[in-house]
Amino acid sequence: MHVDSLELNYYRNYRKLSIELDRNLNIFVGDNAQGKTNLIESIYLLATGRSHRTFRDTDLITWNAPEAQVRAQVNTQMGSFSMRVLLSRNRRKRFWIGGEELRRQSDLLGFLNVVLFSPDDLQLVKGSPSMRRHFIDLGLAQVSKVYRHDLVDYNRVLQQRNSLLKNIAERKAKVDELHLWDAQLVEYGTRLMYKRAEAIQRIAGFARESHKGISGGEENLTIHYLPFYLKEGESIAETKLPLAREINDRFAKELESNRLQELRRGTTLVGPQRDDLLFQIDGKDARQFASQGQQRTVVLAIKLAELEFMGEEVGEYPTLLLDDVLSELDFSRRSFFLETIGDKVQTLLTTTDRGNFRRDELYHSRQYVIIDGQLASEG
Ligand SMILES: Nc1ncnc2c1ncn2[C@@H]1O[C@H](COP(=O)(O)OP(=O)(O)O)[C@@H](O)[C@H]1O
Ligand SMILES: [Mg+2]
Repeated sequence: MHVDSLELNYYRNYRKLSIELDRNLNIFVGDNAQGKTNLIESIYLLATGRSHRTFRDTDLITWNAPEAQVRAQVNTQMGSFSMRVLLSRNRRKRFWIGGEELRRQSDLLGFLNVVLFSPDDLQLVKGSPSMRRHFIDLGLAQVSKVYRHDLVDYNRVLQQRNSLLKNIAERKAKVDELHLWDAQLVEYGTRLMYKRAEAIQRIAGFARESHKGISGGEENLTIHYLPFYLKEGESIAETKLPLAREINDRFAKELESNRLQELRRGTTLVGPQRDDLLFQIDGKDARQFASQGQQRTVVLAIKLAELEFMGEEVGEYPTLLLDDVLSELDFSRRSFFLETIGDKVQTLLTTTDRGNFRRDELYHSRQYVIIDGQLASEG
């Protein structure tokens, strides 16, 4: 799939921008603070309904402007259609696909799929578990309608169960009301966890291959899914998928054994909101020992793997957004990367210095120079 054209109105530092995009490689060149990331962010917003940098939608509207708009013409195997997001200072944001307004933000996912790789993603290896969960959730939610719904359902049940626990702690509700929510929590939670386990198994396979390619075959990357209920030292073999039954039983057991704690603390302590991933290089935990360079290579491999996974699920590749990450790779890693995506993936890439790239790497690309929220030249 690809974005054919993009139009921004009063989005961040863009008053008005209208560009046509290449179906392969697009390179945005510009000094710092000119609007490169803002442009990448606008595509991410169209794809996911939110920014990857801020939770406050009003940050996205040009200062002093009343509203911002992002529009794109997108082409997928479903056909060609328009996408539109409207952000206002005092109304909720609104979305249109092909001229028809969507009822909920979560209905937006799946029309335009993206994989984003930005400098923040380097934290994926050593940062908090929530980053790794977000990585897996966003990949899955984009390609699976069922997963999207399960995620919404699970989070709703979790919230309701939490407020009940709080009410019980404050003696406003009775303990026996919990059972209903427990059953639903386990049901939706098990579905999420089973799909995570399956997806991670496949992503791990792709990642191992691309990691070999990037690191010149010297290192072996393995990725393990760590369901919240695993005990210290326990792990799930990359090749062995847990049965849904198994997940269900262990989840229910954990709820049982944490009941007193949960009642005392007034909140849910177990469930997939505590899952994690483990990255290992040659069998050693990458979180503890991986160097900057190794982390970069691992994240690159994971992003390529996510691309392959999503491509396989949907039958066409997502659009790849690379914000300021490629110029920091050495030439051999970068050429492996560019060769892998080849002409099969639409890519939007930003860089401050075109000189970081060799001429032959840029040969087939379309290039845009961005200065102060405007397209200064194109070729
Ligand atoms: N809501 C906004 N209205 C106007 N300008 C904004 C807004 N938000 C950010 N900016 C400006 O956008 C610029 C940063 O753009 P960014 O895309 O992050 O730059 P870079 O090219 O380095 O990636 C800064 O100059 C910042 O002041
Ligand atoms: Mg930037």
